[in-house]
Parts: sequence; structure tokens; C-alpha cells
Amino acid sequence: MKKKSNIHHVLAIETSCDETSVAWVSLLRGRIHLREQLVASQIPIHQKTRGVVPEVAAREHVAVLPTLVERVVGHARPDAIAVTVGPGLMPALMVGVETAKALAWAWGLPLLPVNHMEAHLLSNWIDAKPPKLPALCLIVSGGHTELILLQAFGKMQKLGQTRDDAAGEAFDKVAAMLELPYPGGPSVSRMAEHGNVGAIQFTSPMLKKDNFDFSFSGLKTEVLYYVQKHKVKAGSQACRDVCSAFQAAAVAVLVDKTIRAAKKFQVPSLLLAGGVAANRRLREHLAARAKEELPETTLFLPDLRYCTDNAAMIGAAALLTVTPAKSIFEVAANPNWEL
Ligand code: KG4
Ligand code: ZN
Repeated sequence: MKKKSNIHHVLAIETSCDETSVAWVSLLRGRIHLREQLVASQIPIHQKTRGVVPEVAAREHVAVLPTLVERVVGHARPDAIAVTVGPGLMPALMVGVETAKALAWAWGLPLLPVNHMEAHLLSNWIDAKPPKLPALCLIVSGGHTELILLQAFGKMQKLGQTRDDAAGEAFDKVAAMLELPYPGGPSVSRMAEHGNVGAIQFTSPMLKKDNFDFSFSGLKTEVLYYVQKHKVKAGSQACRDVCSAFQAAAVAVLVDKTIRAAKKFQVPSLLLAGGVAANRRLREHLAARAKEELPETTLFLPDLRYCTDNAAMIGAAALLTVTPAKSIFEVAANPNWEL
């Protein structure tokens, strides 16, 4: 836990990609409580382009953010403002950061700049019994796939990461090949539920490699060749089978490397986080392997609403690990802020 602070209630803002989210989060007796959260999803807007156009996302954040803030805060005042500073899409991040700066200045409050990936990891603390540290965390999102050893708050070691595409990006690209609706991850996993997982064998990339890195671009290309060769059509049984086989290959390597890392570092807690953490097969397979092979380790799976982007996790990270910015006006969006 970071040193004692008099910040107990934060207004948290998240605008790094395609969800505008505002939350009121509190730290009470060492636990993170979500008082209120609103999420305005831009999914219908980005469906037309099958992906996020950053400028379009930013305009939408501008349109809805003030209303969300007003609805969450009302006449109350938090102790501080927390905001995602990066990583993410620059125009989208800027909307949240500049709004947070204006609010902090107008209300005379401290500003807490939050790393979006650290926040994904700390989503496991929201309304939950705090995981014991050190913890091993698989973060799987649209832009990141990383295995992180969290030794203490603010002290992290990156054990491995993807060398090319992120897991979520691979789901999104497979969905695009099959002309499935945006966002791709949920579309592919829905189709996969009705597919025959053994009908096609795709290779689990880097499964045999003795490291904690990942790679999904080869698997994506293997799926593309299959789809082209067999002229797989959206909505067909072949499409469902491709989704099943792709999902199985991706999940197998994610689960295997995570279990291997947890065994090596003998952690008391194993955490999953990020948008792909909403994937049912990933949750079930990780839970089954952890139960079987890591009896001493507690597995934490965030509630589905804290897997994809949300402001609750930004508030949690701010309260648990972040110190206020020395100067509000020096805080700037940082799209490439790596852990
Ligand atoms: O964490 P997130 O909301 O945003 C980023 O920080 O990137 O993650 C979004 C990613 C997208 O690639 C989306 O397709 C994927 O998470 N995703 C899923 C599922 N739900 C969201 N992937 C697989 N299965 C799902 N159920
Ligand atoms: Zn995210």
C-alpha cells in the first residue's frame, strides 16, 4: 500500500479508446469501493468503420463526457480527480486529460495521472478481497498482451509480452476477415460457442518456446489462408469452426504461459485483466488449470464490467498507487506510456 494519504474519494475519467467512462471510487478501510460508474459505449458508431477512427472517438468523448461527469458528481465533491493519461489513442486521451485538468483546477483538487494498463491490472481490487502480493497478472487487451509480476504497488516486472499483435487485436482481425461485427472479440467468441473446436487445427504460437513472450501474427495469417482457401462465409458452420479453432489456439498459449510463470514465481495470487479477460474460454481454462496445478494460488477473475475499459479501474489505480501531480498543467496525454 502506498503511504497514507488523505485522498479517499476520487472522480475517475477514462477516455483512452472507444468507451467514455466516469466513476466515483472510494478507498475505505483498505478496500476499493465503486460508488457509481457510467459508461457510454461508442460501439454503434465504430461498427460502421469496423474499427476506431481516433478523431471520431475523440469527438464522441467531447460530446458525452460533461454530462457523465455531472451525473456522477452532482453537488458532491471528491478529494481528487483521476484520469487515464496513457497508453491509448492521442485525440481520445486528450479529451479526458484536459477535462480532468480543468475540473481539478476549478475545484482546487489534486490530479492523479493513471496508467491505463496498471489500472487494468488493479481492476482486480474493485469490490473484492485484496489479492495477496506478489501477484502474477496476464493482461490481455486490444493493444497489449503482457505477463506482469506485481511485487508491490508501483513495483512491477514485465516477464514477457507479445512480439507483434496483441491477443485482442488478433481477435479483432479474425473477426474482420470473417466480416463479423465490431468489436471483434465478443463476435468471434460468440461464434466459437457454436463451432466444433476439433474441426480445424491451428498452431498455438510460441507454445513450446521456453519464455514468457507471445506472438499472434502468425496465427492470424494461418487463419487468413484457411479462410481464403476454403472461401469461408460469415455466419456459416465453417465460420463458427474457424472461430472455435482460432480461439482455442490463442487461449491455449495464453493459459499455458501464465500457468508456467505462476509456477516459476510461486505467487500467492494469479490475476487476469483487460478486455480479452471477458473471454469465457480463457476464464474457464485458466481456472481449470490453476485449480489442478496451483492449489496454493488464488485466482482472481475481474467482473465482466471491469474487463473492458471502465473508469472504476482508473479510480482504483489512482487510490492504490498514484501520487498527485506536482503541477496540474504539466500533466499531458501520453499515448505510448508503457508499464
Ligand atoms: O481492455 P480493452 O477494453 O481495451 C484496450 O485497452 O485495448 O480491450 C479491448 C479488446 C478488443 O480487442 C476486444 O475485441 C477484446 O478486448 N475483447 C474480447 C472479448 N471482449 C472484448 N476478446 C475475446 N473475447 C471476448 N469476449
Ligand atoms: Zn483497456
